[in-house]
Amino acid sequence: MTTIAILSALLDEQRGLLGELSNPHKVRRGGRDFWCGQWHGRDVVLALSKIGKVAAATTATTLIESFGAKSIVFTGVAGGVGVGVNVGDVVVASDFVQHDMDASPLFSRYEVPLYGRSRFPCDAALTAILLEAANEGLTWACGHFEDERSGYRRKVHQGLIASGDRFVSDLADAAGLVDALQQFGLNPLAVEMEGAAVAQVCHDYALPFAAVRTVSDRADSQAHVDFSEFVNQVA
Ligand code: ADE
Repeated sequence: MTTIAILSALLDEQRGLLGELSNPHKVRRGGRDFWCGQWHGRDVVLALSKIGKVAAATTATTLIESFGAKSIVFTGVAGGVGVGVNVGDVVVASDFVQHDMDASPLFSRYEVPLYGRSRFPCDAALTAILLEAANEGLTWACGHFEDERSGYRRKVHQGLIASGDRFVSDLADAAGLVDALQQFGLNPLAVEMEGAAVAQVCHDYALPFAAVRTVSDRADSQAHVDFSEFVNQVA
């Protein structure tokens, strides 16, 4: 049976999944914990990458090389930077870019050197499944937890996610980052710190990759507070 890997950065982003695992057993490798087991009759391995692109890339490589993962799904939180991408919404990635990649003038800004591309697309079939699951999950969650006072109806978005090795916590910084990307035709909905690295590793191994992120903050000066509350209480 093929093994699906489900990767998150932090324990708070993974905890809900761990409880669902049948026959769980933990393997420690390369400074990471890998939980192997079954979920809905499928072999799965759950892993925590820790934070940042290097940590995510090494964890993804271990999942493939040592645990035989045949596809990887990333699940976690992100900062919303797209118009109308609000806290509590869900972003399903269509593709990823590294917002801190800049080898210009040798290569065009955002292009990953020697790959000839800046965007790393997600797998269409896996992404369609995530979109359906996210819509169903949000409909269920809204029925149960919706804040009656705000009346805000949470949304599922699909689009580009930008990854980089910094926590974006300033509105002007976020706007500058989005502006700069848009000049290259890149229009991110959300920022986080791992996805593009995993997308690149999966591209190297020709394996399907997909990602779903719940929006924990708006990448503004409140971001660190919103992020901490969100991962504790919601993620
Ligand atoms: N993950 C969640 N929120 C984030 C933010 N504001 N910047 C980077 N990564 C994040």
